[in-house]
Amino acid sequence: MINDTNAVLRAIRERRSIRKYTEEPVSRDHLTAMLEAGQWAPSGLNNQPWRFLVILPGDERREELAQCTKYGHIVRNAGALVCVLLQREAMYSETKDHQGAGACIQNMLLAAHALGLGAVWLGQIINDQAASLGALGLSPDDYELQAVLAVGHPAQRGDSQRKPLTELLLEDF
Ligand SMILES: Cc1cc2nc3c(=O)[nH]c(=O)nc-3n(C[C@H](O)[C@H](O)[C@H](O)COP(=O)(O)O)c2cc1C
Repeated sequence: MINDTNAVLRAIRERRSIRKYTEEPVSRDHLTAMLEAGQWAPSGLNNQPWRFLVILPGDERREELAQCTKYGHIVRNAGALVCVLLQREAMYSETKDHQGAGACIQNMLLAAHALGLGAVWLGQIINDQAASLGALGLSPDDYELQAVLAVGHPAQRGDSQRKPLTELLLEDF
């Protein structure tokens, strides 16, 4: 099977959301590698509208962010948080910039997995933009928060299933 031998396809298949982390800090090199994976995502017109904010333990914004989501326990226990934002000034299309942000986020999740880290895409935290951006000290006039990625050294194995491909295909091919 191609999926078993190709490193990229294996990472796509084996990445799982990880919500529990050990105490081990996430290194600056690992965080930079994740950010660079996001940096190289495709975007419409190559406009690269994403901006990143890394929150490390000890940063008082972490607790403020934790209070913006029912997943506050994940925010508090992560080794690092990577906030992914769209800069309004750099956007050209509501839909396509959101699609680009998704590609960027997935690149970072795959990079985390490839580095032996565990990560989860926190989306519920963006429901109240005013609160979550306020926690980061940013203005909704300038930024739209797309997700917060909680990252750390994994203290659990992920587990999730997928619908069979036959259920996803509109037509057989
Ligand atoms: C747009 C989006 C929002 C998500 N929001 C959350 C969230 O707020 N909290 C959480 O624990 N997981 C969140 N997840 C992770 C999903 O629950 C997870 O990807 C899904 O259950 C499949 O599991 P897997 O990632 O292990 O394959 C989100 C994923 C996506 C793509």
